[in-house]
Amino acid sequence: MSLLEVKNVNQYYGGSHILRDVSLSAELGKITVILGRNGVGKTTLLKSMMGLVPIKNGSIELEGKPIQNHTPYERARAGIGFVPQGREIFSKLTVLENLHMGLAYKTAGTPVPEELYDLFPVLKQMLGRRGGDLSGGQQQQLAIARALAAKPKVLILDEPTEGIQPSIIKDIGRVIRMLADRGDMAIVLVEQYYDFAQDLADEYVVMERGAVLAHGKGHNMEVDGVRALVAI
Ligand SMILES: Nc1ncnc2c1ncn2[C@@H]1O[C@H](COP(=O)(O)OP(=O)(O)OP(=O)(O)O)[C@@H](O)[C@H]1O
Ligand SMILES: [Mg+2]
Repeated sequence: MSLLEVKNVNQYYGGSHILRDVSLSAELGKITVILGRNGVGKTTLLKSMMGLVPIKNGSIELEGKPIQNHTPYERARAGIGFVPQGREIFSKLTVLENLHMGLAYKTAGTPVPEELYDLFPVLKQMLGRRGGDLSGGQQQQLAIARALAAKPKVLILDEPTEGIQPSIIKDIGRVIRMLADRGDMAIVLVEQYYDFAQDLADEYVVMERGAVLAHGKGHNMEVDGVRALVAI
């Protein structure tokens, strides 16, 4: 059974039909990568999964239970962690306070897991620094750590490499692979950087104009011609 299952989801912004019968699944220990050009609906799909935008119909199931009518708060509590496009770090709050935001719906006093500092050692040295003073790459690591603080079962990431320098992209890729390989989490990754996507994908999904154009195993991306499908 899939940990997260999206079935035939349709979504509209006003009169614009954005998501068209989108289905995909995410498995424990696996990375599902969603690719597609600008504006095809990738972020809208992730926001629909998180409950940040309402869907018209279709279903979203977590461990076999429908969650499409749940609030974002309830979905976070149920085990979905979200790393938004553009990171959305609280720039006036410190690194430590940002990490605590990831624990907002846990019992007061729940500590930040120490392992986050093993995953992202740079954060440990910067706990007192304001989020807004971090580099783009450090902010991205903080956004991922914030989402991991509550130990989610599903980690959803929206273009974590956008605007980030290559050395940190490598670090982030290693962390994402390691998290999947632990086997206790399903990962859904939206990514336009093809090589990064191909390196990480266990499963791939290509979107075009709000619909799923192609999907398959990550190791078949090259032979399936995915690079051409997403070339700009
Ligand atoms: N809040 C909104 N209100 C109305 N239309 C929106 C809204 N957000 C996005 N759209 C439209 O929905 C479509 C899908 O946008 P979305 O942000 O999901 O695409 P995307 O694939 O994530 O793009 P990108 O690669 O640039 O991040 C676009 O046509 C966009 O203009
Ligand atoms: Mg987007």
